Amino acid sequence: MEKIVSLSRRRGFIFPSSEIYGGLSSCWDYGPLGVELKRNIKQAWWRTVVQERDDMVGLDASILMHPQVWEASGHLKGFSDPLVECKSCHLRWRSDDFKGDICPSCGGELTEPRMFNLMFKTFMGPIEDAASVVYLRPETAQGIFVNFGNVLNTTRKRLPFGIAQIGKAFRNEITTGNFIFRTREFEQMEIEFFVKPGTDKQWFDYWVEERLNWYVNLGIKRENLRLRQHGEDELAHYARECSDIDYLFPMGWAELEGIANRGDFDLVQHASYTGKSLTYFNEETKQQIVPYIIEPSAGVDRSLLAFLCDAYDEEPDQEEIRVLLHLHPDLAPIKVAVLPLSRRESLVTAAKELYADLRQCWMVNYDDAQSIGRRYRRQDEIGTPFCVTVDFQSLEDNQATIRERDTMNQIRIPISALKTTLAAKLSGEDLFILPPGGQIWKGGGEG
Ligand code: GAP
Repeated sequence: MEKIVSLSRRRGFIFPSSEIYGGLSSCWDYGPLGVELKRNIKQAWWRTVVQERDDMVGLDASILMHPQVWEASGHLKGFSDPLVECKSCHLRWRSDDFKGDICPSCGGELTEPRMFNLMFKTFMGPIEDAASVVYLRPETAQGIFVNFGNVLNTTRKRLPFGIAQIGKAFRNEITTGNFIFRTREFEQMEIEFFVKPGTDKQWFDYWVEERLNWYVNLGIKRENLRLRQHGEDELAHYARECSDIDYLFPMGWAELEGIANRGDFDLVQHASYTGKSLTYFNEETKQQIVPYIIEPSAGVDRSLLAFLCDAYDEEPDQEEIRVLLHLHPDLAPIKVAVLPLSRRESLVTAAKELYADLRQCWMVNYDDAQSIGRRYRRQDEIGTPFCVTVDFQSLEDNQATIRERDTMNQIRIPISALKTTLAAKLSGEDLFILPPGGQIWKGGGEG
């Protein structure tokens, strides 16, 4: 984990929040590369669960919601963790985070556990009284449930269908840590998939498989993922069944995403608190039914950490070590780097022209500082799949060299074929690469 934290800091993926003030515990800022990686993860998720499906639509609900939402959802009463405090060093702990009854830090005596509600409270408007209390949402899910009727009426979707949402959530966690793994402000990617009661088990199994495949298709090694079914005693208050997708983080196996069968709990609760009907008319039986809900709920930050950990690699490189991120091209913050072999004006002009052109399609870096070897290493370290090198011969023959991150294979191709070749490679097409000195990839014709 130290290597991941250090790389993230050094290369501008993730910085401690308010760093010049000494930081703020468990809060992190995403830097220029981190923000691209995060956007790419969210985009890949949205593409898979919304864009490519006809049974899903999106939503972006507000963070602040009517306070009664949290009564109906059970969060006001039930969203609590057992808190203990050390009588000697006064550190506070979540008592189910460790075994035994002494302080994990100093061995001191602990207080009896008391339940601590994890929701952040604030006030709406200028008067800070009980009537103006609102909460920062601890999950994005509730925004979806309360909009079930709106979406149903405006989209005319039929069961089974789902609503997807990406957004910030806040939990006043007692213990945070392991970098961005557990923080108090984080982002979720949640699906609420509405199904006919009786088909819920089938859809639960379907979504477990779908979500597992999503991580594998984006490059996470299958052996670093496992499914863990919740025991009766650990099920959340709303869940009938739940399975976690765990990832083997540097600190051990831990939850990456949870898939829950929430039954009709949420729609029934909101209907009973509001008096509004949150039912669905079943054409076959001509009856109003309350759909059951299958909820795959993933963390953006936790996924980002898993993608970083899984991609991180070190390879011997003569006297040194080549650090590289084997990020999937869809996730890589920078897709292509344009590198003129030297800073000679004619080369810089040609390389900058190319840089401007490629930037129309992708996030592209331009780098002309230090040796070409060092520049390749810099790009490897941030996971850039391809470097394009412009050299003196390029000015004569209008060809450039593409160098691939993972294999370090190089190939010269006509500059006019660069965009299509890069597009094909970035979308995962298995182009045949000739050995160094070869002319063109498969499908590209004569060089
Ligand atoms: N709506 C269901 C729900 O919120 P959850 O298991 O509490 O379920 C879902 O949260 C996902 O949100 C987790 O699997 C994790 O990826 C992410 N998550 C939850 N709490 C987090 C925290 N304190 N910091 C970072 N990510 C968190």
